[in-house]
Amino acid sequence: MKKIGVLTSGGDSPGMNAAVRAVVRKAIFQNIEVYGIYQGYNGLINGNIKKLELGSVGDIIHRGGTMLYTARCEEFKTKEGQQKGIQQLEKHGIEGLVVIGGDGSYQGAKALTELGYPCVGVPGTIDNDIPGTEYTIGFDTALNTVIDAIDKIRDTATSHERTFVIEVMGRNAGDIALWSGLAGGAETILIPEEKFDLNDVVSRLKKGQERGKKHSVIIVAEGVMSANEFANRFTEATGMDTRVSVLGHIQRGGTPTASDRVLASRLGARAVELLMEGKGGRAVGIEKNQLVDYDIIEALAKPHQIDLEMYNLSKELSI
Ligand code: F6P
Repeated sequence: MKKIGVLTSGGDSPGMNAAVRAVVRKAIFQNIEVYGIYQGYNGLINGNIKKLELGSVGDIIHRGGTMLYTARCEEFKTKEGQQKGIQQLEKHGIEGLVVIGGDGSYQGAKALTELGYPCVGVPGTIDNDIPGTEYTIGFDTALNTVIDAIDKIRDTATSHERTFVIEVMGRNAGDIALWSGLAGGAETILIPEEKFDLNDVVSRLKKGQERGKKHSVIIVAEGVMSANEFANRFTEATGMDTRVSVLGHIQRGGTPTASDRVLASRLGARAVELLMEGKGGRAVGIEKNQLVDYDIIEALAKPHQIDLEMYNLSKELSI
């Protein structure tokens, strides 16, 4: 393999830049030319493709966002869009592609693989919802952003002896809610994977207040319902006043943590090795701190699983 491409796609995540840097530097170290495909699959279809040099990825390891820009691309979900993408790759003589992104990006990589084009997926999303890897790039940074917010909200919640409902990202996956809720000592964590009973939530909060708790923090993953909707239901049921905080896209930005930079560097470099070994149609991941790779098509067929042990632990510790 003499020329490879790299793109970032879907929702950005802190550490994507470190992954791009790793792909570029690892490839050049191995005498492979690297082409950056800008604006995700949109850029692939439109031929927004430029050669990257060692210096192109200088001074980005510590920056959030993605220097390659990103997009959500409807056209790439169609066969025509995918064929246009392959034509662009062939026009530039690019023989393999590293796709850094989440679930939607992997679907695109899977489609290219099924059309016979070698692709390797690198899990980059704050949601931590990619099967076949314990952690995705950006999850750790997003968690730290959320915890910082919870800690601050807790200060004012205590002063006013209030209940706060905090909405975090995660349409289909509750990992951000669960991990940040556990680390932030939230009283209740609501995740899309587990049903909740409002009466149970209320009785737990009341018990805490009876024993002298000065504040209550409820974390709601956006996939369950909006924090406003939950707060309305809660107030209707209890007559208690609440305040709502929707953290939104601040969770997607910011300086990547050391952990995300290291993860991104390891996964990005491994993706290049796989292409060099002629192994397309793979996705890289980390399990028990070891790099792993697996069939991208098989992996996507598996559902993402929440850590139920951790979910139960969060309930035990927040009484
Ligand atoms: O996939 C990452 C993510 O941040 C989700 O948690 C969230 O639901 C979604 O992206 C938001 O996407 P957008 O920025 O396109 O609104």
